[in-house]
Amino acid sequence: MSTTVTLGPLYRADAPRCAELEELLFPGDDPWSAQSFRDAVSSGQLYLAARAGDELVGYAGLAVVAGPPMAEAEVHTIGVDPAWQGHGIGRALLAALLAAADELRATVFLEVRTDNEPARTLYESTGFVVVGTRRRYYRPSMADAYTMRRERAARQDVADR
Ligand SMILES: CC(C)(COP(=O)(O)OP(=O)(O)OC[C@H]1O[C@@H](n2cnc3c(N)ncnc32)[C@H](O)[C@@H]1OP(=O)(O)O)[C@@H](O)C(=O)NCCC(=O)NCCS
Repeated sequence: MSTTVTLGPLYRADAPRCAELEELLFPGDDPWSAQSFRDAVSSGQLYLAARAGDELVGYAGLAVVAGPPMAEAEVHTIGVDPAWQGHGIGRALLAALLAAADELRATVFLEVRTDNEPARTLYESTGFVVVGTRRRYYRPSMADAYTMRRERAARQDVADR
């Protein structure tokens, strides 16, 4: 792709565009509203935007639900504008979230629809494994979800001694 895509913070002002993308990406699975994005961004969690110039083309969010020494985090959301999918943006967003999780040595959890092969493939390629199934997890579609887990990063300072 010739246009440069950059990653940076997601802002409250991005909320309407995120909600628009959610409608496209998660029809039937209770897409987040603009208010949900405003709340998430204001909560101090790590929310990132992928931008092509002024256009928001992707977003992702990570919530830290427990701090060290047994840190845990959850990937809350990740989405890429359909017109921009397949160019590495989702992988870059996820890598940025996981780098933050690794700094805390957090175990990371997420839910993904069992039929969402692109997302599951992406997650598996970054170390997530399926650890359970949640029947009828999504509303109103009632689709099933896999729970996936990625173990905390090894402690380099110990391993290197
Ligand atoms: C999942 C999603 C975020 C991936 O974003 P993307 O920018 O298209 O993904 P990338 O181009 O970075 O590809 C990353 C990896 O995803 C996987 N992938 C992407 N598209 C795929 C497809 N159509 N089929 C299978 N795997 C696919 C591949 O493993 C790919 O790695 P590789 O191309 O390096 O081998 C995007 O498809 C999306 O927004 N989907 C709808 C929303 C969604 O399902 N979000 C996840 C909810 S849990």
